Amino acid sequence: MKILVVGAGGREHAIIKKLKENPRVDAIYCAPGNGGIAKDAQCVNIKATDLDSLAAFAQDEKMDLVVVAPDDPLVLGLVDMLKERGIRAFGPSKLAARIEGSKVFAKELMKKYNIPTAKYEVFTNSKDAMRYIEREDSFPMVIKADGLALGKGVMIAQTRQEAANAIHSMMEDRIFGSSGSRVVIEEFLTGPEVSVLAFCDGKTVKPMLSSMDHKRALDGDEGLNTGGMGTIAPNPCYTPALAQECMKTIFKPTVEAMQKEGCPFQGCLYFGLMMTPKGPKVIEYNCRFGDPETQVVLPMLKTDLLTIMDATIDQTLDQLDIEWETGACACVIAASGGYPQSYKTGFAISGLDEMGQVPGATIYHAGTRLENGEFQTCGGRVLGVCTKGNDLTTALEKAYEAIGKISFENMHYRHDIGHRALMSK
Ligand code: AMP
Ligand code: GLY
Repeated sequence: MKILVVGAGGREHAIIKKLKENPRVDAIYCAPGNGGIAKDAQCVNIKATDLDSLAAFAQDEKMDLVVVAPDDPLVLGLVDMLKERGIRAFGPSKLAARIEGSKVFAKELMKKYNIPTAKYEVFTNSKDAMRYIEREDSFPMVIKADGLALGKGVMIAQTRQEAANAIHSMMEDRIFGSSGSRVVIEEFLTGPEVSVLAFCDGKTVKPMLSSMDHKRALDGDEGLNTGGMGTIAPNPCYTPALAQECMKTIFKPTVEAMQKEGCPFQGCLYFGLMMTPKGPKVIEYNCRFGDPETQVVLPMLKTDLLTIMDATIDQTLDQLDIEWETGACACVIAASGGYPQSYKTGFAISGLDEMGQVPGATIYHAGTRLENGEFQTCGGRVLGVCTKGNDLTTALEKAYEAIGKISFENMHYRHDIGHRALMSK
C-alpha cells in the first residue's frame, strides 16, 4: 500500500508513525513534510495548499490512500478533488469542512439543531457590529472572524474599546483577509476546556481519548495564544458522566445535523468543548485532527489506525470496536524563542539521540529541517516531546526529563503542562 499524508507538522508526524505500524503499508509519502518526517516518510516538495499538484502526484504515483491533515486543503476541497479522480481519501468534503471553515455556518448549525454553544450574533458590516457593542454591557465579549485565520481569529475583549479595536482590525483593516468579512460576537463562557477528536463516517461517531491543550505561550496561562504549547491525554476533567452527556447532546446531534444538511461529515471531527456550570458547550469545531492533541491521542490507540480510516471511508465504523491504552500521555512543545510573534530560525538542535534513551519517549517534529545531516529549527513550534506513563504524573516527569536533554538557541517551552489538570484531580 502507498499512502500520501498531506501536511508538515507534529500532527502529521504522529499520523505517519502510527500508520507505519501496519505491515500492509509499504510506502508513506508526505507533502511537504519536514526534516524529522523525512526519517519516517518520503517527503515530496508540494505545498499543502497546492491542490492541483497534490492531486496530480497522488494520481501519477497511484496512491492507495491520501490522508489530508491540515484545515486549508480540506476547506479548499482537496478531498472532493481526489475522490473525483477515483483516489481514496481520508478527510471531510469541502461542504462538510465548512464546520471549521465558517464560524457562521457552525453557529447556525448549532442553533438550528439545539446543540449547546455560546449565545451569539452575526455581523456582515462593522457599523452594525459597533452599534451592537455600544449597547452590550456584558464583558468579556468574544469576537471571532468567520473564516480561517491561522488559529488567531478569536479575540476576547475585556472592554468596549478592545471590542471596537477587534472589530475594526477584522472588518476594516482586514488583518485576516476575507475571513473577516463576517464576524461572530458571542457570550464568554467559563469552565475547564476539553478537546475531543472523533472518527466520523457520516453516520456513526466514535470519540477518541479526550485531551487538554495549553494554548497560551507562557507558564500560568500567560502570554499570547499559540497553536498549542502542550497537551495531555486523557483529560482528567472529562468524567465518564460528562462523556455520556456530550455524546447525547453534542456528538450525535452534530453528526446527524451534518447528515440532514446534506453534507455528512467523514473524517476526524474535533470538538473544542467547555464544561460550563450549565453543562458542556461547544467552543469550536475543527474539521481535522488537532495539533498537538493528535500527538498524545494516537500513541494511546491500540486498534490499527489504517483499519479505522478504512472504516471511516467505507462507513462501517459501527462495526468496529476502538480500543485505547490505559495510563496517560503528555506532550511538551519546544518552540523558538519569540513564538508566536517573530523568531529566528536555522539553529542546530542537539540532544535528540540522548532524548531517545528516555523510555517511552517519542519526538514528533514540527518545524525542523535536515541540513547536511543535522537537524535545524525552521518554524515556531519546533518539536513535540511525547511520553507515555502509567499515570499522568509519570508521563509528565518523563516528558520533562526528555525535553531537558534537548537544546537549541532561544529554545522555549512551558514548565507547567498538565499542572492544572493534576491539581484538579
Ligand atoms: P479558537 O481559536 O476557536 O480555538 O479559540 C481560542 C480560545 O479562545 C479557546 O480555546 C478558548 O479558550 C477561547 N474561547 C473561544 N470562544 C470562547 C467563548 N465563547 N468563551 C470563552 N472563551 C472562548
Ligand atoms: N490545538 C488546537 C488545534 O489544533 O486547533
